[in-house]
Amino acid sequence: EKRETSDDSVKSTIDGDMTIISDSVLGSVKVDHPVLDAAAAYFFQISGKRFRPMLVLLVARAINKGATPEHIENIMAKQRKVAESTEIIHVASLIHDDIVDGSDTRRGIPSLNTKFGNKVAVLAGDFLLARSSLTLARLGNIEVVELFSTVIEHLSHGEVLQMAGKGKQNFDNYMRTIYFKTASLIAHSCKAAAVLSGAPLHIVEAAYNFGKHIGIAYQLTDDTLDFTQNEGLLGKPSQGADMRLGISTAPILYAAKQYPNEMNELISRKFSNDGDVESAMEFVKKSQAVEHTQDLAASHFKKAVDAALQFEPSPTRTAMISLIRKIMERDH
Ligand code: FPP
Ligand code: MG
Ligand code: MG
Repeated sequence: EKRETSDDSVKSTIDGDMTIISDSVLGSVKVDHPVLDAAAAYFFQISGKRFRPMLVLLVARAINKGATPEHIENIMAKQRKVAESTEIIHVASLIHDDIVDGSDTRRGIPSLNTKFGNKVAVLAGDFLLARSSLTLARLGNIEVVELFSTVIEHLSHGEVLQMAGKGKQNFDNYMRTIYFKTASLIAHSCKAAAVLSGAPLHIVEAAYNFGKHIGIAYQLTDDTLDFTQNEGLLGKPSQGADMRLGISTAPILYAAKQYPNEMNELISRKFSNDGDVESAMEFVKKSQAVEHTQDLAASHFKKAVDAALQFEPSPTRTAMISLIRKIMERDH
């Protein structure tokens, strides 16, 4: 019963932080032009899963120590800005991603490119990146600025790697892509929270590894959901949406190990003939491809737990590990 009490107190602390962030983000993206303002605020008026800021806040609260509560609150104020910037950069990357992928839905509503057109969507994404850079620069910590500049570089790099991998069957390229496009943001934002708390090097590294392995596992799960779930549940195009873009993700690559002749032909012509997507889907379903991908995701979730265990025992550390479980079991 004692444990339940401390779990509840961690939950209400993080909920409090999340409320502060949700209020503050709307101010951070405000701009004196009606179209840009509406486009920039578009996805912040509905709530996504918000895993990324939650992870940053948990890392922050698990590490922070200080002589006085005021000292901790000072650092927390900066770490909340990191959490907020992480969500803003994430949304900017989704806005650009929906243009690149030609997706018409996101989070269950029309994508920004559908609602405002590609031109406004490109500019709104750029605007959000600029505002997040400003927020981060104002924290006055040059290392944090460097960490997030690296993230923005990695996002672009990941997308280009993914494009270059179309029509090819290369697991190394795939793993590098998902590090760049998904894991880097989570890894570097968790690291930034640790840097701001003045944590020792091994803890800064643990924070980075925690985020990195969650990120890799998160994208692996995402890539299975494109085979197992429908658009209604995911709120974005599904059921082979990646294949329709010519992209081979982990389930496809595992199915190709089991059915090399049939799958390699489909992969190399980028699933472009009538019925290709459907037959690849059949091979994925009759192979163990989804299970293999889930096993690989589970091994990265396990590495994230190991990284969390580098932190000192605390109710917040326990909450970090429960959040990993929750992310691992997600169905959308
Ligand atoms: C989602 O992947 C996409 C990303 C996580 C990164 C997108 C990055 C860019 C478009 C590069 C430019 C962006 C910035 C901010 C510099 P997905 O298409 O596999 O996922 P989905 O199923 O959610 O669409
Ligand atoms: Mg996409
Ligand atoms: Mg994409």
